[in-house]
Amino acid sequence: MRTQFPDNFLWGGAISACQAEGAYNVDGRSMTIPDVTMYNKKLDRKITKQVSFTREAIEVAKKDLDDTMYPKRRGIDFYYTYKEDIALLAEMGFSVFRFSIAWSRVFPNGDDTTPNEKALEYYENVIDECLKHNMEPLITISHFDMPLVLMEKFGGWYNRKLIDLYLNYCETIFTRYRGKVKYWVTFNEINMSIKAGPKTLGIINEGFDNYEEALFQGIHNQFVAAAKATKLAHEIDNNNKIGCMVAYFTTYAHTCKPDDVMKMLYDDRMRNQFYLDVQAKGKYPWYMDRYFTENNINIKMEDGDLEVIKENTADFIGFSYYMSMISSADATNLEITSGNVMNVLKNPYLEGSEWGWQIDPVGLRYTLNTVYDRYEKPMFILENGIGLLDKLNEDGTINDEGRVDYHRRHFEAMKEAIKDGVDLIGYTMWGPIDIISSGTSEMSKRYGFIYVDQDDFGNGSKKRYKKDSFYWYKNVIKTNGEDLGDVK
Ligand code: BG6
Repeated sequence: MRTQFPDNFLWGGAISACQAEGAYNVDGRSMTIPDVTMYNKKLDRKITKQVSFTREAIEVAKKDLDDTMYPKRRGIDFYYTYKEDIALLAEMGFSVFRFSIAWSRVFPNGDDTTPNEKALEYYENVIDECLKHNMEPLITISHFDMPLVLMEKFGGWYNRKLIDLYLNYCETIFTRYRGKVKYWVTFNEINMSIKAGPKTLGIINEGFDNYEEALFQGIHNQFVAAAKATKLAHEIDNNNKIGCMVAYFTTYAHTCKPDDVMKMLYDDRMRNQFYLDVQAKGKYPWYMDRYFTENNINIKMEDGDLEVIKENTADFIGFSYYMSMISSADATNLEITSGNVMNVLKNPYLEGSEWGWQIDPVGLRYTLNTVYDRYEKPMFILENGIGLLDKLNEDGTINDEGRVDYHRRHFEAMKEAIKDGVDLIGYTMWGPIDIISSGTSEMSKRYGFIYVDQDDFGNGSKKRYKKDSFYWYKNVIKTNGEDLGDVK
């Protein structure tokens, strides 16, 4: 029986290009969906809304040269500050740093015959900086930053042409960074696509008789692309480890009423298991037949698609975990709270964050156990954390005991899961340095152990400050998760 974190456990944090880099129009980069996503002033913090995209709205946003209301265009300037920022992560003792490459930097026109050398050099510098500090770079190939040209020219992932373009992009980066990068994730939270079609698949709801069918087509094309990329990565360097990834929406039954339990099973399959079954078991699960038939969903596949999916499953299961939710056969009178991408039913036993996301460390242990049980592949927690409203004190300190408490309780749950026998290989908490929120484009929803002095509208010095949690996490890593004790 294992009683503690393994010696080679990877401790670190994760960011994405579109939330951190800024420099959206620099060195040849083309525009992406996040660049035309506005900060929503009217957003009710308790209930998140999905931004809906139309072609007209995108055109207007593209031409809007005032960047104030488009926070992801500026990020936190990581494009320029990566050296100082990575040094701070190294000071905490990170052994892994997860970040993403912006496809729109490497192939700005989507179908360019040669990659943009400036982009390749930039990411090589970032990778070298990680290696200099003995950090494994873990790269997400596509993290919620759909290049607009791929939507405009090809209609996004609905079009199979994107599989070839994605593979060309993968071949370019696998070859260029061979021997330097070992850990890759094909798509960030591939299961978000069904809730956020334009954002992750670049498929706009126009001209389709059945939009849901179009989304499942896009998801199928991503499955094929991910499987082919996994094959390619292994051919280019057999040391490569390729992960799939879902946002795990851990779901409990509202009561022990059998109807509620059946609803839980259904939700778990539709939200989570389907995506992992395809990518980790290598086959479309039998239970989807009924759903596809009853909803008139007919996915077009080509010869060889199912074989490539079968033969190239992921090396590890990556997932993000922020919260849990409940399912009920009759939700009429139940309270609702906001969650990641969608509103969910409130669990009366759990507290929520300022943004309503329900805090559930035990759910992490449950998720690690159930997912490991189902696939028996190494598990990697690729995101976890809490968005808080932090206050910078006059003396430059930030007291964020709430964040420490959140992580401490989740680390205890991870330890228990390891004792249970789960093969957990790494943990990259979300946003070790404050970045722009994905869902709301706010700066004030902060996850970091490092504070960035910038407000929602881009005002501030952008200076970095260490929060109390910085020192706490440093000690956790130093003791390999043994000492979860004091803040300082
Ligand atoms: C995950 C995404 O779903 O949630 C991240 O992969 C995102 O990109 C994170 O930032 C937290 O969500 P938010 O909306 O609080 O930034």
